Amino acid sequence: MYLCSDYEKNRNEKSRNMENPFKFGTVVEAEYFTDRVNEVAYICQFIQSANHLILISPRRFGKSSVVAKSVKQSGRTSITVNLQQITSVADLSAKLLREFFKIHPVERVRHFITHFRIIPTITTNALTGTVDVSFQPGVDASILLEDVMTLIEETHTEQDRIIIVFDEFQEILDLAPSLDKKMRAIMQNQKHINYILLGSQESMMTDIFEKKKSPFYHFGELMRLGKLPREDFHQYLSERLRGCFPDNHNDLANQILDYTDCHPYYTQQLAANVWQFGILQSEQKNIIRTAIDYIVATHGLDYERMWMNFNRTNKWILQRVASNDPLQTGEHRTSTIYSALKRLQKNGYIIYTDHYELEDPFFREWIQKER
Ligand SMILES: Nc1ncnc2c1ncn2[C@@H]1O[C@H](COP(=O)(O)OP(=O)(O)O)[C@@H](O)[C@H]1O
Ligand SMILES: [Mg+2]
Repeated sequence: MYLCSDYEKNRNEKSRNMENPFKFGTVVEAEYFTDRVNEVAYICQFIQSANHLILISPRRFGKSSVVAKSVKQSGRTSITVNLQQITSVADLSAKLLREFFKIHPVERVRHFITHFRIIPTITTNALTGTVDVSFQPGVDASILLEDVMTLIEETHTEQDRIIIVFDEFQEILDLAPSLDKKMRAIMQNQKHINYILLGSQESMMTDIFEKKKSPFYHFGELMRLGKLPREDFHQYLSERLRGCFPDNHNDLANQILDYTDCHPYYTQQLAANVWQFGILQSEQKNIIRTAIDYIVATHGLDYERMWMNFNRTNKWILQRVASNDPLQTGEHRTSTIYSALKRLQKNGYIIYTDHYELEDPFFREWIQKER
């Protein structure tokens, strides 16, 4: 039986009480956030102008986090709505209004509300003070949206512009027919709002902002977010791993980044698991491998389900991309490969940075194992 030395016992005791220094899955702030110094500075500076910003990257690259940080740093008033969580135009209007009431108490803007064409029901929770908003069902939702967006515009000035962040903005295309047209028409004349529009689906976002026929054609400045720079990410990981791995934290940080290729989310996920195994096991050989295998195993069912839904061409492409094998083998027509790649990219399974790669390195591992 392996017996822990006192030193190890103490260290393990100490670490067990320590919070995991890595975080993934939500917007990260403060101590979990690294680098993006130039991006934050750029966004802060940009929103001082009267222009709008559009930020595009594959999902989980850190868009929501970098925008949250920039908006906070700018010290400006803001409202954030994630369109992925919105189910209808009425829901969007209610959500915007609820967020608005967090900044402007209902009492102070009551006279504006009396101008609404459809009066909302506003209830305040006496205990928490939170305000809830609802509209009578069946009313014309685009009127609600226009009234709410006009209210936001009218309660601000050119000197005191508000920032509205619409996260996962590409969802407007699915929310309601011609919602993009209606929103653009409302936004057209606004002067007291800076919009920051974020999107994870490259092709949909470029269609919205780059296609001449789209109502949002050239609506604002397009900015793309890449992965995190290796050097900064290495330092971030290394510093946090040190407590648990005093001898090899540098090396482990390198191995993690080699595996995840600096993808913000998957790097934090792997690092969090490495750290967890580090404090639980005194025997720390092959800790990276242990953590990877663990992650792949816990997602095995999801991967299997995903895999079953791919057609044969997609399976073939995913296998080739996972192993870095060339796609032009003569087995499939170039046009077939190209359109399948585009679809896989649209659905987030494959990303393109300087080459095509699997979005999820653990899914890549699973595919290679199952092959
Ligand atoms: N600047 C950063 N520093 C460290 N980790 C980050 C950073 N930005 C993102 N991440 C990691 O990526 C995850 C996804 O970030 P998020 O902002 O939700 O991405 P997106 O909005 O592009 O989907 C976070 O939970 C975190 O683990
Ligand atoms: Mg996001």
